[in-house]
Amino acid sequence: MQTILITGANGFIASYLIKIAANEFKVIATGKGLNKKIFSSENIVYEQLDFTSEKDIEAVFQKYKPDIVVHAGAMSKPDDCEINKPLAFQTNVKSTEYLLNAAGTFKSFFIFLSTDFIFDGEKGMYQEEDESNPVNYYGETKLLAESEVKNYAYDWSIIRTVLVYGNPGSGRDNILTMVAGALKKNKEVKIFDDQVRTPTYVEDLARGIKTIIDKRINGIFHLSGKDVLTPYEMAVAVARFLQMNENLIIKVTEKDFQQPARRPLKTGFDISKAEATLNYTTISFAEGLFQTFSKEILPGE
Ligand SMILES: NC(=O)c1ccc[n+]([C@@H]2O[C@H](COP(=O)([O-])OP(=O)(O)OC[C@H]3O[C@@H](n4cnc5c(N)ncnc54)[C@H](OP(=O)(O)O)[C@@H]3O)[C@@H](O)[C@H]2O)c1
Repeated sequence: MQTILITGANGFIASYLIKIAANEFKVIATGKGLNKKIFSSENIVYEQLDFTSEKDIEAVFQKYKPDIVVHAGAMSKPDDCEINKPLAFQTNVKSTEYLLNAAGTFKSFFIFLSTDFIFDGEKGMYQEEDESNPVNYYGETKLLAESEVKNYAYDWSIIRTVLVYGNPGSGRDNILTMVAGALKKNKEVKIFDDQVRTPTYVEDLARGIKTIIDKRINGIFHLSGKDVLTPYEMAVAVARFLQMNENLIIKVTEKDFQQPARRPLKTGFDISKAEATLNYTTISFAEGLFQTFSKEILPGE
């Protein structure tokens, strides 16, 4: 059985990937601090690993000698990165370099999770070879980390994704669950209507990553949903689906509502490369909405 080491195990995307990877691999689920998701498979080992420590990375790699590494952990909130740039650089760039060095010792297949925020949002519906030009520091750090991955001497793949949603389990809220939470408390929620995205259902993404692992395909892949929506449209869809008061959802634009980090306006991905190469398929946003709010079994539960 091959060994796969996954970073960011307490995070949203990694928790779904760990669950499906455990059907076929020995999974070393690494996370900062204690195991927040209690995974039930005997194929999963949890290891505490703060990946800003090169020494700790080396020790974990020596112990498990992974065949495959999926680096899903990151400082993933753009505003946090903008406010604390040195920590964002250490967490998103330097740590990727440390992980690549350790992975090189075992010639592991290295998979890196990246983002639509490496683009400036002028064009939209980006393809893998489109020019990058991040508008915030989070995007800059992810792009710098991508360059490190591209220099890796063994097999590598960069998977970029867009606004991932689904049932968060015990993890951090995503846009759909954040809106639902506010509406349940009868609270107003301000949502952008001048951004465009192709939101990604988390289980589709996890399956796409698994296909890349199985095929050991190298290169850059765009994995997202296909439906094109603004966050405001997503929020209204949540209110209608849950039969809650959609008048509590207030449309805002970049001009009305300043955030520490700028956001690219029009992103969204053209996923035809993934469809052709990986047979990647996605569910519709309407189906994803249903899956998000009707799932009772959550990762790690
Ligand atoms: N979610 C999206 O919409 C989206 C879109 C595009 C790209 N991505 C990329 O996809 C990846 C996964 O995203 P996600 O949504 O699953 O993010 P997430 O829920 O924030 O998970 C990231 C995880 O990384 C961990 N982490 C941060 N610093 C660490 C460190 N020094 N050592 C060890 N672990 C550390 C965090 O630990 P704590 O829990 O302790 O903070 C967190 O559990 C990220 O690389 C992100 O850039 C996500």
